Amino acid sequence: MEDRGFDLESRLDDLEDADLKRTLSPVDRVAERGYFAPPSGSELPVLDSTEALVFASNNYLGLTDDQRVENAARQAAATVGTGAGASRLVTGDTMVHRDLERQLAETKGAERALAFSSGYAANVGTITALEPDVIFSDEYNHASIIDGCRLADAETVVYDHCDAADLRSKLEERADRDDASEESWLLVTDSVFSMDGTVAPLEAICDAAEAHGAWVMVDEAHATGLYANGGGVVQAEGLADRVHIQLGTLSKALASQGGYVAGSEDLIECLVNDARSFVFSTGLAPPAAAAASEALHIARHSDVRERLWENVAHLRDGLESMGLEVLGDSQILPVIVGDRTDALALAEGVRERDVVAPAIRPPTVPEGTSRIRVAPMATHDRDDIVACLEAFRATGDELGLL
Ligand SMILES: Cc1ncc(COP(=O)(O)O)c(C=O)c1O
Repeated sequence: MEDRGFDLESRLDDLEDADLKRTLSPVDRVAERGYFAPPSGSELPVLDSTEALVFASNNYLGLTDDQRVENAARQAAATVGTGAGASRLVTGDTMVHRDLERQLAETKGAERALAFSSGYAANVGTITALEPDVIFSDEYNHASIIDGCRLADAETVVYDHCDAADLRSKLEERADRDDASEESWLLVTDSVFSMDGTVAPLEAICDAAEAHGAWVMVDEAHATGLYANGGGVVQAEGLADRVHIQLGTLSKALASQGGYVAGSEDLIECLVNDARSFVFSTGLAPPAAAAASEALHIARHSDVRERLWENVAHLRDGLESMGLEVLGDSQILPVIVGDRTDALALAEGVRERDVVAPAIRPPTVPEGTSRIRVAPMATHDRDDIVACLEAFRATGDELGLL
């Protein structure tokens, strides 16, 4: 009989041959240090005997093992339940969700917020629910934005990364078309870009959008909790009134799981009705909502953000003083190596020195720009930062990269 199945073995071999096969390496806990297990496939993982310093996590504020956050999750599990049990529209809407959404709306200077089960679901659900005719999208936007554009079946115009001039010229070009006046336009960008550490020029983007009446949507996944009063770049730049849709994840600085959208009452009501990833998905688990609420409270009302930014400055200075090129202007420190083999060797070398910081290679980043993505946390102490820098210096010297 004819085989109509899928040749998975050869797909995996192709990935292996191209050096693109991904593997899972479990760690004993999510924190600034931990014991990792080598990839073991379906076998039970065996944790390494040495503890590694983690400079690879998006747990930027180090709140995943904060007692207050743990207690909030525990209490929500005990009083509300471990899972939402149904879509929010059925019986899965709880006071814990409402408390989180109220706090998110307040932080984001928005009328209302809505929690999704992930940032991915928030992006895909929001873009598809809006049904834009044309989307203007930064070339380095996150995969969940790209998938949202595809699923919305909108015409997507991609502009050069963080380039407001290119955006303006693409808006003007489109506006010159005869049928353009009938179209709805959505302009979408990450605020902090995960692989480059760059920050989008949001004010110039809002100017460009306003000149054409387009709506602006900003994905603050890597910024939420880290900037002014625990908000994102939108708050740091005072743009809440000019950004129609503020979106993000609860899974990075907010030490939990889930996503959110903040905006007008009408926007949120539309999403409650039309965002399929909200309507047809079980509500966010109450312990995740409660953990995110508590983490956001800590981000807003403590010095935890300052500790992160001090670590970022120390680490950036140290890496640059070795002669390494560090991109961006955020908490993400991408160290440019260039050649993919050198990047892999550098990541391996620092790993042998018990520092975890991954090599990022093509196709994730453009050819010739392979890098190590270094992400400090607020909970790293001075010794941890020094140990990370020493691992880079020793490995860089050994490989002749410094
Ligand atoms: C910019 C951006 N948007 C959205 C997401 C998706 O968020 P989540 O992990 O909550 O699905 C991520 C990361 O995972 C991201 O980096």
